[in-house]
Amino acid sequence: MIKQRENFGSRFAVIAAMAGSAVGLGNIWRFPFVLGEYGGAAFILVYMMASLVLALPIFYAESIIGRRSRCDTFGAMKKLAPGTAWRWAGLLTIVSPLLILSYYSVVGGWSVEYLFKSLSFSFTEVPAEKIPDFFGRFISSPWQPIFAHTAFMLIVAGIVLAGVSNGIELFSKLAMPALLVLILVIVGYSLTLPGSMKGVEYLLKPDFSRLTPQAYAAAVGQAFFSLSLGVGTILTYSSYVKKDENLMVSGLGTAVSDLVFAVISAFAVMPAVFAAGLQPGAGPGLVFETLPYIFNKMGEGLPMLSTLISSVFFAAILAAALTSAISMLEVGVAFLTDEKGMKRRSATLLLAFLCWVVGVLCSLSFGSLSRIKVLGLSFFDFLDHLCSDWLLPLGGLIFTLFVGWKMSKADVRDEFTNGGTRNVRIFGAVYFLMRYVAPVGIVVIFLTNLFL
Ligand code: PHE
Repeated sequence: MIKQRENFGSRFAVIAAMAGSAVGLGNIWRFPFVLGEYGGAAFILVYMMASLVLALPIFYAESIIGRRSRCDTFGAMKKLAPGTAWRWAGLLTIVSPLLILSYYSVVGGWSVEYLFKSLSFSFTEVPAEKIPDFFGRFISSPWQPIFAHTAFMLIVAGIVLAGVSNGIELFSKLAMPALLVLILVIVGYSLTLPGSMKGVEYLLKPDFSRLTPQAYAAAVGQAFFSLSLGVGTILTYSSYVKKDENLMVSGLGTAVSDLVFAVISAFAVMPAVFAAGLQPGAGPGLVFETLPYIFNKMGEGLPMLSTLISSVFFAAILAAALTSAISMLEVGVAFLTDEKGMKRRSATLLLAFLCWVVGVLCSLSFGSLSRIKVLGLSFFDFLDHLCSDWLLPLGGLIFTLFVGWKMSKADVRDEFTNGGTRNVRIFGAVYFLMRYVAPVGIVVIFLTNLFL
């Protein structure tokens, strides 16, 4: 029996779902603190270059494989390169998004908890100075973060269970515009704080002396993470894209939305950090430690205002995290339903449960399991480094090599240009980037990560 494969309904739906996957904790939580570690404006410029020259071609490579095959990542490789070992490379890219989901859901849980705390006035009831400590106490406590992680994972599973068009597409179409509005509200608020202009300057005046090779590698890693590359997400979503959709436009739309959200998030967070006299390089706790502090401080005597702003902020983070997390789970669900004939329901529940178990270990690595180290890192940090420094770029390398060197150029051109009717002129440049520039760039990043 041939099963009817679902499709995204419109171009807006395609871009909303793909941008929904791309825009997430990577933009709002990760980008500001990585940027803070590597020195502000100059890092943003490198990041933009990395996104457009290296990441976008890989995005196109994944889209081409996905839509050409109309399969999950494993099935795609099997179909386009039958009888070869490429399918095992496809299998790898099913495991990596599930690993990411495991620890991503823990951070998603933090945003659930912070939203809940904001709504229940918990941040306005204590003196501002106590708030940064709250984060450390919360993540190291045994049960609370696990409850929050569980709640986050249940919502993710619920949306994926509802299917591609009723779940993923609908949720992304609603959440993405709402997210843009919410985050702009925060930018407006942040820019009115006294002292915020120092933060704006930090984001606009480049200091190139801080651009070390590590900063370049971090910019590329961030671009991969932020565009959801190398883990089959874009491939799987592209398999739901209709044949007449223009891949160049949906790719560019996604990359630009992702860049815009990253920059807007930086403008929401950094001016507030500077206004409060805090450190931009505070690390992963930056958003969770500093923003509630700032909201509390600025809203002193006005608990309603402070509660409103902080609830809006954490609702925005939660919405962004959900649209990304569903895309991670969908990769594995597509594999189990397409290849193993499993029902969508059982596939979703099984994978969500497995990720939940790994996530519990990640969560406990901030508390009772903090003494257990893998290669000198906590389990959470180990997974994060394994994924963003190695698995994502490795997946990206697999996809570009596949499109650039395994598929025939005629097939690649046919898919990218919709049978020679679109984007014909720029095809040559895109093909060159996919075939030569992207693979060489990734190998350079591997070497940098290995030796520095
Ligand atoms: N791009 C997402 C973010 O910025 C993270 C992600 C990585 C999503 C890989 C899917 C796959 O948060």
